[in-house]
Amino acid sequence: MWEILQFDTIDSTNAELKRRTDAAHGTVICSVQQTQGRGRLGRSFQSPEGGLYLSVLLRRTEPPEQLLHLTPMAAVAVRRAIFDACGIWTQIKWINDLVLHGKKVCGILTELAGKDRIILGIGINCTTETFPPELADIATSLHAHCAVDLHRLTSALLLRLQELDAGLFSRKAEWMREYAAACLTVGKPVQLLRAGTKREAFAEGIDENGGLLVRFDDGTRETVTMGEASVRGLYGYI
Ligand code: BTN
Repeated sequence: MWEILQFDTIDSTNAELKRRTDAAHGTVICSVQQTQGRGRLGRSFQSPEGGLYLSVLLRRTEPPEQLLHLTPMAAVAVRRAIFDACGIWTQIKWINDLVLHGKKVCGILTELAGKDRIILGIGINCTTETFPPELADIATSLHAHCAVDLHRLTSALLLRLQELDAGLFSRKAEWMREYAAACLTVGKPVQLLRAGTKREAFAEGIDENGGLLVRFDDGTRETVTMGEASVRGLYGYI
């Protein structure tokens, strides 16, 4: 049984789970808003009331290199939950943004805390009407595209995350096929941002662990597993 702890406000649901070093597998921290929501690559994640912000603790003993597919599978879990609760399908921007009509509707931050603690944090823009100017062209809310019931969406998400947890290895192939099919990055020119460097490439596909298969202009190929891939025409990247 997963234990769900609900807050009205908190700095970050990921940070709270990190502090709870004794928390059991399946502990979920959910908050109406976050004051210091965290994003990938050291960024912040705007978390006003009107979003769904939750983190779940997964205790896993497998080495991190065997768990590379966890974050991509989480993107599939959220995508399925949004469909279950709202009836619309989102696309995935590698590696873990969910996108609706070209704008980001959800971000996922996976953090390792100690050797067997994985914190999976999910933020979905649900009914937020306005975003700060720097996000206005990049972010959207579910509410702009469909009716949203936050409780229904939360329940659907928890069910899908439990399904992910149970099928992390046994259903990997099926979920990763869905990931690849829903990934809008594939088949597009991308700009890879890694360790402060930028490089143009073409995204050819997704491997079985969610790695992005790219081809460079000189014909060489690589599997990208970290950093960011800006997609031309998306989030203001021209
Ligand atoms: C990203 O898009 O860069 C990832 C954003 C992840 C945001 C979620 S909201 C719940 C959890 N708590 C956090 O502080 N961050 C994650």
